[in-house]
Amino acid sequence: MDGNGRWAQRRGLPRTEGHTAGEENLAAIVRASVARGVDYLTVFGFSTENWVRPRREVRHILGLHRKLFGRVSELNDLNVRVQWIGRPFDDPAARTPTYVQRAIQKAISDTAQNTGMTLTVAFDYGSRTEIAHAARRVVGQHKTPNVAVMSRAMYIPDMPHVDVLVRTSGETRISNFLLWQAAGSPSYFTNNPWPEFSEDDLDAAIALAHKFRSR
Ligand code: FPP
Repeated sequence: MDGNGRWAQRRGLPRTEGHTAGEENLAAIVRASVARGVDYLTVFGFSTENWVRPRREVRHILGLHRKLFGRVSELNDLNVRVQWIGRPFDDPAARTPTYVQRAIQKAISDTAQNTGMTLTVAFDYGSRTEIAHAARRVVGQHKTPNVAVMSRAMYIPDMPHVDVLVRTSGETRISNFLLWQAAGSPSYFTNNPWPEFSEDDLDAAIALAHKFRSR
């Protein structure tokens, strides 16, 4: 969800206001995705690299995660099941504060019965860290690593392959996001910063996914 900071700076606002607008737009895009019958929506909320940002900004983003995970009644109304993907809380390098851990665990358990869209929030997530973690698990199980064995050792083993990757705000680089799960997936790039990611963008991304599926 790139471009929150730039969106705010263009308006003469602090970067944190961009993240707030980003959280609001995420809620809107979740509703729009449900309306379109999307089964899985996975968003990159906070990466393993994001901890080095200024403390105030980190605190603000963490607070927004608590807010999003707290929108349980709205998510239940939409029949949305929440999942989290990220570095396990007991990992020696993990830094997720207890209040965010609790909010994540509560949102997961309070929406576990829902049968509609799965919204997965990547928090303290990094793809290379995930792949290294999977490799350690495989070695610990004395198994020979191959694609099937490694797939089962990922943070969420039954996560489906990514249909389409979306990157906002004119960024056309591959980021450290779902590299294992998105190998070969098409990418949809938009110049809109995340707070302005629109329903038209969503439709264009879905159309790209369909185009590649039917090939
Ligand atoms: C990247 O834009 C965005 C983030 C690091 C934070 C994303 C968080 C939200 C949208 C808040 C709500 C989300 C959840 C899942 C609760 P940037 O800060 O790098 O902006 P820039 O590219 O303009 O600098």
